[in-house]
Amino acid sequence: MEECMNSVLIVGSGGREHALLKAFLRSERPLCMFAFPGNPGMERDGCMLVDKPINSWEDLADWAVENKIELTVVGPEAPLVDGIVDVFKEKGLIAFGPSREAAAIEGSKAFSKELMKKYGIPTADFSIFSQKSEASAYCQKKGAPIVVKASGLAGGKGAIVCDTLNEAENALSEIFDKKAFGEAGNTVIIEEKMSGEEISVFVVTDGQSYRILPVSQDHKAVGDGDTGPNTGGMGAYAPAPVATAGLMKQVEREIIVPSLKAMEAEGKRYQGLLYCGLMITPQGPKVVEFNCRFGDPETQAVLPLVTCDWFELFHSAAGGSLSTTEWSLFPGYGVSVVLASKGYPGSYQKGAVVDGLDEVEHARGNIDIYHSGTALDEQQRIVTKGGRVVAVSAWAETLSDAIALAYEGVGGISFEGMQFRRDIGAKGLARRNRLTTQVAAGR
Ligand code: AMP
Ligand code: GLY
Repeated sequence: MEECMNSVLIVGSGGREHALLKAFLRSERPLCMFAFPGNPGMERDGCMLVDKPINSWEDLADWAVENKIELTVVGPEAPLVDGIVDVFKEKGLIAFGPSREAAAIEGSKAFSKELMKKYGIPTADFSIFSQKSEASAYCQKKGAPIVVKASGLAGGKGAIVCDTLNEAENALSEIFDKKAFGEAGNTVIIEEKMSGEEISVFVVTDGQSYRILPVSQDHKAVGDGDTGPNTGGMGAYAPAPVATAGLMKQVEREIIVPSLKAMEAEGKRYQGLLYCGLMITPQGPKVVEFNCRFGDPETQAVLPLVTCDWFELFHSAAGGSLSTTEWSLFPGYGVSVVLASKGYPGSYQKGAVVDGLDEVEHARGNIDIYHSGTALDEQQRIVTKGGRVVAVSAWAETLSDAIALAYEGVGGISFEGMQFRRDIGAKGLARRNRLTTQVAAGR
């Protein structure tokens, strides 16, 4: 085997982690790629899955030391909030991601809201409660619409936007009485409902210096036209035309810089990927939430647009001195469409054979398929295992071509009960067309 120069471990098993893997493999640096636990798609792309029983982050860190891993990149929030990066650092390893204390920016909405309030970072007005009766009285006082949120990690389902007081009462009862989110609901945030378009801003940072990746838009609702219940995300596209250069200057000035300074001032210097989930309200951009990791499926739309030495970028950020290594941006758009199991985001069936994956990926360039909820059956066929099964990502010079290419790919894949949104990127297309019309009319 050719001697590999650098060994990288990716922690996680979803489409986001598969997209990270492919981004690493696209860079010119020769790399040995490992994943824990990884997925069958990552393995097919040449990534080695950790083959030792792992019962704790200490076990994984010991494995990483034994295997001379030089960089670990952590995908999901749960290990970060759990302190995986602290465990790795204690063993002298370099891991890209925030410490346990800094990951509280996602792990505790109460912490992040208080942080924003203290440092004047724009966000929805709010109050924090640990008693249902007080939360309920506050809702009555404020009136609907109102947003009820569990403070802790709730798998993306912890925010309930309530259009009536009745809905708010039900949400409080689910959280406090029925413990729908377990301990994560011991503390509840009640906040003002904001309106506007949402964007996902990914910031790679060493805690002080930072670089912003192309801005994306997620599609959280399960149905076309943003209808139906919220999911982990049914698709994404980037760059989002709503994130103009002027708006992004404001976002840097009012949100990114003060947030990094706030974390540093609180003694929780933030290293890793800071995901700023923002709403562009009539009063300007406001924070909906911070996440302590890359978004899924936004990553699947964003990373194919960026060519860079990811090893150097993440390694330097994790080491405390962000590299100024050049990255080049694809001059166009990326679109990622999630194919989900029937029933998702509710209960769904598993074990359906997925057809067409290789054909679609190899038929033409500019298409990637990222696995998220897949498994291998006894005959080594790819079968469904999760709600979100795969994401089809495509990139092209225009947004409409990228959308068309992604859906061409989707058309080649099938499994029993496959569902997907047919309008991923349509919001961006509409805005682009409006902008073009305005420019043509000299407005
Ligand atoms: P979160 O878990 O905080 O990201 O919220 C999930 C989704 O709920 C967001 O992406 C928004 O679409 C919606 N949401 C959360 N907070 C608010 C708010 N204050 N106003 C309006 N929508 C919100
Ligand atoms: N796509 C939303 C998230 O990753 O939280």
